Amino acid sequence: MATILAIETSCDETAAAVVHRRQVLSSVVASQIDLHRRYGGVVPELASREHLLTIGDTVNEALLKSQLGWADIDAIATTCAPGLVGALLMGMSVGKTLAMVHQKPFLGVHHLEGHIYAAYLEQANLKPPFLCLLVSGGHTSLIRVNGCGHYKLLGKTRDDAAGEAFDKVARLLDLGYPGGPIIDRLAQQGNPKAFKLPEGNISLPAGGYHPYDASFSGLKTAVLRLIERLHAEGAEPLPVADIAASFQHAVVNALVKRVFRCAQDQEVSAIVLGGGVAANSQLRQVLTQTAGEKGLSVHIPSLKFCTDNAAMIACAASEHFDQGHRSRLDLGVYSRLPLEQVAELYQT
Ligand code: KG4
Ligand code: ZN
Repeated sequence: MATILAIETSCDETAAAVVHRRQVLSSVVASQIDLHRRYGGVVPELASREHLLTIGDTVNEALLKSQLGWADIDAIATTCAPGLVGALLMGMSVGKTLAMVHQKPFLGVHHLEGHIYAAYLEQANLKPPFLCLLVSGGHTSLIRVNGCGHYKLLGKTRDDAAGEAFDKVARLLDLGYPGGPIIDRLAQQGNPKAFKLPEGNISLPAGGYHPYDASFSGLKTAVLRLIERLHAEGAEPLPVADIAASFQHAVVNALVKRVFRCAQDQEVSAIVLGGGVAANSQLRQVLTQTAGEKGLSVHIPSLKFCTDNAAMIACAASEHFDQGHRSRLDLGVYSRLPLEQVAELYQT
């Protein structure tokens, strides 16, 4: 039963955590959102520099809060892919150095595997097989999870990821960054049926597309056209809450439709939600309600484990560690790495 200290710096959160199997002993997240907000998105060079400034304190705080010492830590884990290369390098340099100094085994972890494992942190009995809907700033993926390291990608986004669509629509509406939480809050005061927006149809394989793929760029363009039309009609101020609610309604419907169609085809009875967009209140509610109606179980991490954190990375590493997986200290960082290739990160 491994105790892992993990580091996560793949994007704009500097995070460290100590986890004993699925039990979180500490989880510290230093968010850079305020730094990037004025640019309307993450600036990679600034992210790397900020990670460098905060990583030391973040790791120390995580160890202190866990009330453990280095002697109690079985291994050090660090996100190595996918993400911003400069940002990943910061965490990896620190993780590898700590592993060398304290003579601990080292494990590189795939960020998306971490998002899948976020659900394990609060579900002692969760076991594969299940279907994971992973929705973040960079990914919209439907993954069949057959076991630790055994993943099958069944659907992905053909263009913008779900979180990216939230962020871009928020920018169109001048709402600020990151768009997801702002649109989520605004939508609660709006009418989701005010404007009809395209959800994207599920197309059968014979139609030329994978049926579980998602596409959000058409929806984003439809919101842009709607805003232009409302401006032309002199609708001032814009009905921002109604637009936000209608947009969110379209995204949630598109995602939920695909998840249940896929779960049925795959004959799985459990669905796991992960990634930053899993924090969306309407997605959580509609998924839970529909799963109940269909007799499926649904597992959704609490909000703090949906967005980027290191506890989920430690949890994934802990299972790899128990299986005897270790990474070499010359493991690199990868801006992209298919989830199906996680085995390449380890030597057994
Ligand atoms: O997983 P994450 O923290 O970072 C990535 O790995 O990308 O996801 C960040 C994304 C952002 O696009 C953000 O707008 C979105 O998650 N997000 C949300 C909500 N909270 C964060 N989207 C919709 N509703 C939310 N409540
Ligand atoms: Zn993430």
